[in-house]
This record gives sequence, structure tokens and C-alpha cells, in this order.
Amino acid sequence: MPSLQPGDCSELQQTLEHHFKWFHRHPELSNQETGTTARIQGILSAAGVAILDTGLKTGLVARIGPEGNGKVIALRCDIDALPLTEASGLDYASEHTGCMHACGHDFHLSAMLGAALLLKEQEQDLAGMVKLVFQPAEEGGGGAQQVLDSGVLDDVREIYGLHVASELEMGLIAVSPGATYAAVGFFRLIIRGKGGHAGEPHACRDPIVAAAQIINAVQSIVSRETSPLDQVVVSITHIEAGKTWNVIPQEALLEGTFRAFSAEKLSAVAARLEQICRIIGEMHNMGVVYQWHCYTISTNNDPELCEFVVDTAKTLGLRVVPSTPQMGGEDFALYQQRIRGVFWNIGVGSPHGTHHPGFVADPAPLSTAARLLAALGRRTLERG
Ligand code: NI
Repeated sequence: MPSLQPGDCSELQQTLEHHFKWFHRHPELSNQETGTTARIQGILSAAGVAILDTGLKTGLVARIGPEGNGKVIALRCDIDALPLTEASGLDYASEHTGCMHACGHDFHLSAMLGAALLLKEQEQDLAGMVKLVFQPAEEGGGGAQQVLDSGVLDDVREIYGLHVASELEMGLIAVSPGATYAAVGFFRLIIRGKGGHAGEPHACRDPIVAAAQIINAVQSIVSRETSPLDQVVVSITHIEAGKTWNVIPQEALLEGTFRAFSAEKLSAVAARLEQICRIIGEMHNMGVVYQWHCYTISTNNDPELCEFVVDTAKTLGLRVVPSTPQMGGEDFALYQQRIRGVFWNIGVGSPHGTHHPGFVADPAPLSTAARLLAALGRRTLERG
């Protein structure tokens, strides 16, 4: 264990870069993060950090600070990777074909390890307990819900989390009150027509024509029915119909996503999609099966705690700017439904955005992120 001097982070930075590169080389998909979890556990145990018994299959929750009646707060990172083939050109690129840390979760978890090391050194002086959540399965695998269901956060009064931002200058912190990551809906449509000979369309009911009309019609939800000042997205991202040129298929499948910054708007878009699909189906004398679910609600940063994050960052000499709302989703929002909290960003200077095979999170601001996480933990407890 390197000894960590306040204000001198070079040794911490080197330690964290070393961990970060290992995690980057060994990405694992949602709910399969066994190697990642074991590695995190090893690093924390070596530092004498206690790991809580949560029953989580992957991911873990560690604890620093005294047990008892004091305040309990949480810091959260995510640990899973994406099913992408890396094209970053890094010398520490993914060794797991078809899997890549393309959303910076390797950065988040390495920064959290740094926060754990810093807080462990101050454990005797902490005015309560910090729970460090290494959450599995953020990328669509229900990880936040698993952590909440385990009950480990039941006594937690505040929660803080971070996400890398490619568009932000390196090491710059961005945070704003309210919703900064969108509510995300997923939908699937099955259009049930009647297949047959392509030369006899009158004897068939062609689901491809209906699909084309649906694809066009739903564009008007955003362009003609939503205020230009509102942020809403409807995207159809997956189409399957037919196998060859001379057969009209029986069915067409469409999938897509819609996003907004409030639960009400998300439900309104979902209802409008359903109506458009049903009416076009009826027009073509076909059944349309429409399913949707809300993958996550929007994040909701507590305004008062947001000020606290800005203030804490400034005590560390960090530069802070307001964050730009993103149409990406984050299941950190599920914690914020139950616990006051803030989700903030840190710039990592990537040439490509997240979820791109060329995404690169520069490890240079790792110790900055670790120091801010640790300071948020310590100062939140001091606030009482
Ligand atoms: Ni992410």
C-alpha cells in the first residue's frame, strides 16, 4: 500500500492507472462481472476495507467507517462493459473479443478504488459510514435494482455517483440540478400480415408496407407534436421482415427506443406510439402487437446537494461547469428515487463518444475523480 499524502496524488495516480489498465484489458458483460468483482475484492481486502454480505452475484458493496448509529451515505460506480469490438488502438486494449469498456465504467470503478484507499486512511476520523457500491449490470441488466433489492442501501441518506464525459475538457467537473440523463423507454412491434406470392399482393396483407408507414408516422411525434423546447427522441433501430425477393412475408418486427426528461412525457410518447401503430394496423387490416417498458427514469439531482458537490470540488481546487443534459439513460436514477443524491460528470477527453469502438477514457484525471469522491464522502458525514 503506498502511503498517500494529502495533496500529493502522484503515487495514487500511478496505482489507479495500473488498476484501470487491468480492468480495461479484462472487460465483462452485464451480470457476468466475476473476474472484475474478484479483482476489486482483492484490492479492497489488501487495503483492509470491509466487504458487506449483500448476496449480489456480481458487483459488491464495501464499507468504511464505524458501524453504529451514525449517518450512512453511499458512493456508487458501475463495473460492466459493452458487447463491442474495441478499435481504440490502445496498447492495453480489451483482451476479451467482442467486449469492451466503451462507457468508462473501468474509469469509474478505478476512481472508486482510489476513494476507498483515501477514505480508509481517514477511517478513524470519519463521522459515520460510507458504503462504496461497485454496481454490476448498468448497461441494461438491472444492476441498480439488484443493489436496491439487496437492502444494503436501506439506511443510506445520500448517494453520489460519477460518469465520464468525452465532450468535457480533461479533469473538468460538470454538474447541474434536476434531470441530466434521460428517462429511457424500449419498444417492440410485431406487425401480423398475411404472406404469399410477391406477384399477388392483393391476395396478401403486406406487413412491410405497414411497417414503412409506421416508421414515417412516428417521426411526427417529435417533429410535429413536441415543443421544440422539449427534449424527446424516438428512434427505430431494428427492422426484420422477409427473407427473399419474391415472397411477401407474414410478419415484420420493429424495435426502438424513446427518451424524454419526465416520466409523464415518456408515458405520453409510449401511448402515442401505441395509437399510431394500432391505427395503421387497422388501416391495413392487420394486427399489431405493441410492447414497451421503461428501462430507466431520468436522473434527478438534488439542487441543494448539487451546490454541495460544486463547493466540495472547489475546496479541492477543481474547475466546475454546469452539465449538459444527455439523452443517454443511467440507472443511478433508481437510487435517486429513494435517496437524495447527485450524479456528476468528469471530462476524460475521448476522441469518440461513449458506446463507440474508438472510445478512450484518458486515465489522467483518475486521482482527481478519486479525491472528489472521497471528499464528498467525508464532507457529507461531517455535515451530519
Ligand atoms: Ni455508462
